[in-house]
Amino acid sequence: MSSSSHLLDVYPYLPFRPESAEGVYLMAGNRRIIDFYGGHAVAGLGYGHPDIVRTIETQARRLFFQSNAVALEVREEAARRLVNFAPQGLELVFFVNSGAEANENALRLACRVTGRSRILAIEHGFHGRTAAAAAVTWSAVGKWYGFPRTPFDVDFIPRNDSAAVAAMVDASVAAVILEPVQGQAGAFDLDAGFLREIAAACQRHGALLIADEIQTGMGRCGAPFAIELAGVRPDMLTVAKSLGAGFPCSALMMTRELAASLKHGDLGTTFGGGPLASALMSTVIEVIERDRLIDNVQVLSREIIEAMPLGPVEAVQGKGFLLGLRCRRPARQLLEELLRRDILVGTSADPAVMRLLPPLTLERGHVHALLNALADIGPG
Ligand SMILES: Cc1ncc(COP(=O)(O)O)c(C=O)c1O
Repeated sequence: MSSSSHLLDVYPYLPFRPESAEGVYLMAGNRRIIDFYGGHAVAGLGYGHPDIVRTIETQARRLFFQSNAVALEVREEAARRLVNFAPQGLELVFFVNSGAEANENALRLACRVTGRSRILAIEHGFHGRTAAAAAVTWSAVGKWYGFPRTPFDVDFIPRNDSAAVAAMVDASVAAVILEPVQGQAGAFDLDAGFLREIAAACQRHGALLIADEIQTGMGRCGAPFAIELAGVRPDMLTVAKSLGAGFPCSALMMTRELAASLKHGDLGTTFGGGPLASALMSTVIEVIERDRLIDNVQVLSREIIEAMPLGPVEAVQGKGFLLGLRCRRPARQLLEELLRRDILVGTSADPAVMRLLPPLTLERGHVHALLNALADIGPG
């Protein structure tokens, strides 16, 4: 890092500096880089999308900000659209600002509603860096981002372990929180049967199921939300990342039954559900539906999956546009080789897995560019 920078040095930067972006391309000097990383899955509609630009301008002129002290039609409309887009039964929405904040509220609510203080999460899961979210994040076990203790008891269920579900989910559990496809862990998709067993066990013992769809949601996995692919109905669902196409916003969704336990003042936020965020959320859903972007995800994802193994990639995991390419060489090394060919991919907590989280607007030509680059790199 340059000694002239006043930014806290907590991020290892990639070796290029984007100056602008358009479609799925990042511009850096005279380079045009195809973005298969999407700014951590945030750029769901790519960059400079005309509907997004228009919404920002129109809403900023009309009403840039108002807090939750007043009712807003634009906020009501965003909630209505999100409920229609989400799995059946999640009929109430609380808007906040980031993924961790949505999870924080979901976990708080679970403890409060059930009167229990034990949360189960899945090994290798990631849920954020605030107190409660970090407590259920696997990589934070033992250190959980510097706090001395967790705010509730936490245990981790091994992935796809039915016996552990039967043994661990009992009447002491307030909630189980899980990502249907574990993003940070390398796009590891949990078995549909495992997800259904957890849902059934939660129901049996009065525990709540929280689907963390912060990374997997908004069409990324080839369905509006990934939990639907397993036929599971969660009690709560959290979504962020591409929800606002890059504008920071998130939502906690829940059943009417759960919402009935809340009264004025129980939850709160200054910025959550602001007019600009709300207008953008509505536009994102409208564009995904109008342009049939989920169909695009399904078709192009299948093309990528069917092309594997290829070059340094020996296996593929994940769903839709949240794919993990398991490689024979360290993913970080391959990221740099692909970047030299003007293709940006992600890494993950698994050093052998490269992650693809491109915009839903990706086209076949971009997929071919990636496949050609992998073939060109070779098995190495
Ligand atoms: C599944 C999941 N949950 C929670 C978070 C935390 O979101 P944020 O960084 O917006 O707080 C992330 C971020 O990567 C995530 O992938």
